[in-house]
Amino acid sequence: MPKPSPSPDPPDTAVFDRVESGVRSYCRLFPRKFVRGRGAWLYDAAGGAYLDFLSACGSLNYGHNHPVLKAALLDYLEQDGLAIGLDLHTEAKERFLAEFERSILRPRGLDYRLMCTGPTGANSVEAALKLARKVTGRHNVIAFTNGFHGMSLGALAATGDRTKREGAALPLGGITREGFEGYYGPAIDTAALLERRLADPSSGLDKPAAILLETVQGEGGVNAASAAWAGRIAQLARAEGALLIVDEIQTGCGRTGRFFGFEELGLKPDIVTLAKSLSGLGLPFAATLFRPELDIFMPGQHNGTFRGNCHAFVTGEAALRQFWRDDGLEREVARKGALLAARLAAMAAAHRPFVRRAKGRGMLQGIELSSGALAAQVIRLAFARGLVIEGSGPHDEVLKVMAPLVIGEDELMAGLDILQGALEEVLVRQRRVAVE
Ligand SMILES: Cc1ncc(COP(=O)(O)O)c(C=O)c1O
Repeated sequence: MPKPSPSPDPPDTAVFDRVESGVRSYCRLFPRKFVRGRGAWLYDAAGGAYLDFLSACGSLNYGHNHPVLKAALLDYLEQDGLAIGLDLHTEAKERFLAEFERSILRPRGLDYRLMCTGPTGANSVEAALKLARKVTGRHNVIAFTNGFHGMSLGALAATGDRTKREGAALPLGGITREGFEGYYGPAIDTAALLERRLADPSSGLDKPAAILLETVQGEGGVNAASAAWAGRIAQLARAEGALLIVDEIQTGCGRTGRFFGFEELGLKPDIVTLAKSLSGLGLPFAATLFRPELDIFMPGQHNGTFRGNCHAFVTGEAALRQFWRDDGLEREVARKGALLAARLAAMAAAHRPFVRRAKGRGMLQGIELSSGALAAQVIRLAFARGLVIEGSGPHDEVLKVMAPLVIGEDELMAGLDILQGALEEVLVRQRRVAVE
């Protein structure tokens, strides 16, 4: 295993400052110039090595440049394989679809149709929302507090974060927000509140086209829904004639344990959104899955130039073959997820009240600190020691561990050591300030 060895100085960023929009954000948190990635490691231009607990926000579940996926792409390029095919029938897509059917759908008894949307998660969410509204003839979609679904206007309407919503500079409509599990504290059952509002014809809640759910809210603070709560939400959707949309863009491709997060909760959604790690190598690729009866868009009714990213089909197929023909990766995630949970629970127990709790599922877990300011200090210090990790939640107060699923146990422990060391040092400083 390489040693985390951050480079000491921020690089020259003159051209970024001069040319690129100020909207960029991650580069402010991690001010280095990155050049290479391999497995769980990121390297900067000055030779610094960093353990990556961010995985491009869950787009690199199989790590940076996995050799099998990379070889598949290099081979395809060498043969002048078609790069982009719109929605033409291409061999690359055919092979991906056949492998998806073989490794993912059939073993799970699922008969979803797969719609290739534009290549980002938000594209997939837009397709899901549009389809649910078109199928039901209703406009209202129920989404949850702290939900995150993307930045295009429809997806942003379903997203909770106020700063991001203000970016739209337009009223964002078509969504009713309800409390996610535990939002008002453990004593208040938000599924019962929703049931009450749905049952009351005078509650002001329009009949929903869909209920849109993340099984673990990745951006919203690593809030994991329980099977009991999610099952009741699914029942309510069914009873109302609304479609259940599960957004698996962050939780999917094994992140929370199984290929789909909904498997762990015993759900069978009507519509599923997928993106991020679908190509496995970080190439843009998104898809929306739905029950065959919902396949009602007219040909061309939901287009997009980049729906036929053949490079992503090639690496996506290679990823499915490599990781999803058996349950090896699922078992790996269960094992490392348990190690992660134990370490995070120990950090929480040792540092209350500054650490409120550990939470999450599988390899999508975190610790909630008492403030976003504290979390920001830990993130900065951890980065200075060679760990890339980000915050999530309403105040960025949750330190989210999203290492590649394939990370070595020694690497996972080394990253957690850095995290724990940074946390402890920040808390020592905090206590010192409190005493002075
Ligand atoms: C659950 C969820 N849905 C949708 C999106 C949007 O995906 P994209 O950024 O690729 O548009 C994200 C991105 O983080 C996400 O986590």
